[in-house]
Order: sequence, then C-alpha cells, then structure tokens
Amino acid sequence: MKDYTPNDGRYEQMTYNRCGKSGLRLPLISLGLWHNFGSVDEFDNGRAIIRRAFDRGITHFDLANNYGPVPGSAEQNFGSILKKDFTGSLRDELIISTKAGYNMWPGPYGEWGSRKYLIASLNQSLLRMGLDYVDIFYSHRPDPDTPLEETMMALDFAVRSGKALYAGISNYSASESARAIEILNELGTPCIIHQPKYSMFERWVEGGLLDVLEEKGVGCIPFSPLAQGMLTNKYLKGIPADSRAAKTSGHLQTAEITPEKIATINALNDIATKRNQSLAQMAIAWLLKDKRITSVLIGASSVKQLDDNIDSLKKLPFTTSELDAIETILRKS
Ligand SMILES: NC(=O)c1ccc[n+]([C@@H]2O[C@H](COP(=O)([O-])OP(=O)(O)OC[C@H]3O[C@@H](n4cnc5c(N)ncnc54)[C@H](OP(=O)(O)O)[C@@H]3O)[C@@H](O)[C@H]2O)c1
Repeated sequence: MKDYTPNDGRYEQMTYNRCGKSGLRLPLISLGLWHNFGSVDEFDNGRAIIRRAFDRGITHFDLANNYGPVPGSAEQNFGSILKKDFTGSLRDELIISTKAGYNMWPGPYGEWGSRKYLIASLNQSLLRMGLDYVDIFYSHRPDPDTPLEETMMALDFAVRSGKALYAGISNYSASESARAIEILNELGTPCIIHQPKYSMFERWVEGGLLDVLEEKGVGCIPFSPLAQGMLTNKYLKGIPADSRAAKTSGHLQTAEITPEKIATINALNDIATKRNQSLAQMAIAWLLKDKRITSVLIGASSVKQLDDNIDSLKKLPFTTSELDAIETILRKS
C-alpha cells in the first residue's frame, strides 16, 4: 500500500460528544476490531478501513485482548498498522481502548476479573500493539467470583500506573454498574464509559442501565449497533456467502436469521428507504437519537460499509411517526 497522509479536513466532518462528565470527547461513530482484523483476515483490507475511518474523523478504535481470530491477532495487526501509518504525534490524535475479561490463556489467571489477570492481560495488550499506554481499559465482563472491589482496584491501578488513561466497564448490569461506578469514584479513578450491547434488536439497556449512567455522569458506547449486520441490507434476501453469518469464524449464528427476522428487517428497511437512508444508517441514527449515547461502536468488513455507516450522520433526526412505525415493527417481532 502507498504511504499514508491523513486527510486534512478530517475534524470538520465529525461531531465529538463529551463522554459522560469526563473531559474526553469521542466521535459520534467509533470503529471496533472484533471481526475483520484478525490473522485470518486480509491485512491490507483492515489497514484501508482504519485509514479511511481516521480520514473521516473517527478517532476512536476499540479492541480487546481476545479479538482475532486468533485471539490477540487484532491487537497485533492494529499495532502493525499504527507503526506503518500513525507515526509520531498521530498517536495523540487516537483514542485506543482494550479490554480483559473473556478467556485468553489457559489456567486460572487467563480470564474473568482478578487483579492478576487484568494487569497481566493489559501488559500483553500493550506489547502486542507496541504502545506505552491505552486510552481506555475496560473490565470486559463482571466476574461473579471475584470481589468487585478487586476488579475495580485493578482498573484504578492500570490508570495510576500510566498504562491506561481512563477506566471503563462492559456488559455490567444496571445494579452492577452502579456499584462499580461508586467503587471507582471512591478510589479516585472515575469510570468514564460503559460498553453494552444495544441496537433495535437488543434493548436491555433501556430497562435501567441508561438511567444509571445518566445519573452518574458516565458515557455509553453501544456495541453491535447493527446486530452484527442483521440491521443492514445484507440479509434482506437470506444469508449471502460473504457474510459474518456464513463464516465459521463469525459470531453470528445462521439460526438467528429466521424467516420472521428477515420479514422484520425488510419492514425496517422500507422505513429507511422512505427516509432516503440505508437500513444501517437508520439503525445508527436510531441509537444516536438518545442524548445519553456518547458514540456508536460499529464494525465493518469493507471501506464501502464504513462509508455507508458514517453517512448516517447526514440524517439523524426522526419524525414521531417514523419512530412510532419502527416501534410497531419491533413490538411485533
Ligand atoms: N464489549 C463487548 O463485549 C463487545 C462484544 C461485541 C462487540 N464489541 C465491540 O463492538 C464492535 C462492533 O461490533 P459488531 O462488529 O458486532 O458491530 P455491528 O456494527 O453490529 O456489525 C458489524 C458487521 O455488520 C456488517 N456491516 C456493517 N456495516 C454494514 C453495512 N453498511 N452494510 C452491510 N453490512 C454491514 C459487517 O458484517 P459482514 O462481515 O457480514 O460484512 C460488519 O462486520 C466490535 O468490533 C467490538 O469493538 C464489544
């Protein structure tokens, strides 16, 4: 690939929201590297996606220790892309997050929420990416067997040691989040962000979590906003061969794409068409209508998809009748 010079106009095209009550501002759309950046994927395709994202004002890239496959390879590849394309002070224009919580290496110290695992994993992530620090370090999931205090103390330590600038939590319920946020406040390292699954098809956060985050001044960055591709034009007519659902390494099960789901997707797509938007664009705008959402964390397997998704920012507002029509479809599904 040719040498990379970032687009000069990148910051004029994007809006940056304050993350909760912190000083950190995140782009309305962020890019995640869960799929499409592993050792099984085409390196130059991932590299082109990252370049394009940055050129269009996306400053935030989300990773985790286990992203790949193979686990760790997304961080490794991202580190190579940083080294090739984001040299010098460009690091200071990026918000890079990583996480620890899911299974990463064998034995009792390779998953969940102990201080031992979190700090060892963060050290490994920094090595893989070739970084001195990450911007956000997350506890990837709550651990029922480790005291929450210990997990939060590990996040506090990560920040105090300079290996991370901010602390976050992911997949914590509303009540677990409230406690975690309180503990971190007591320790003097505020929790600035929560990363939950949230889309038109997955709305558990509306049952209390968003209220907790608003009350405590914590930002929210929903993952899988397109329901892994179901809320796009990809599955309107079934399961194409080049889709996540068709891949053995993908996390979307073909069984999830039922005839009923396809009917719902088509009904939503009709509304998107009337709004002169793609379904992916409408699904992203639908999340951003709630001011408690800091940024929407998308995935993309091509530059074309990325562009389609970022173009959602061209039309964010909804009419009441559009929102009612969407609710009617979702309630029926
Ligand atoms: N904290 C957690 O536990 C957790 C869990 C999951 C994800 N995440 C984070 O959230 C990020 C996003 O998750 P996700 O990848 O599931 O997000 P998503 O945006 O719901 O799905 C992305 C996938 O949808 C398809 N797609 C995207 N844009 C499209 C478009 N415009 N038209 C057609 N298809 C399109 C692509 O799949 P194809 O491959 O089929 O083209 C793409 O890989 C991850 O990378 C990760 O950073 C966090």
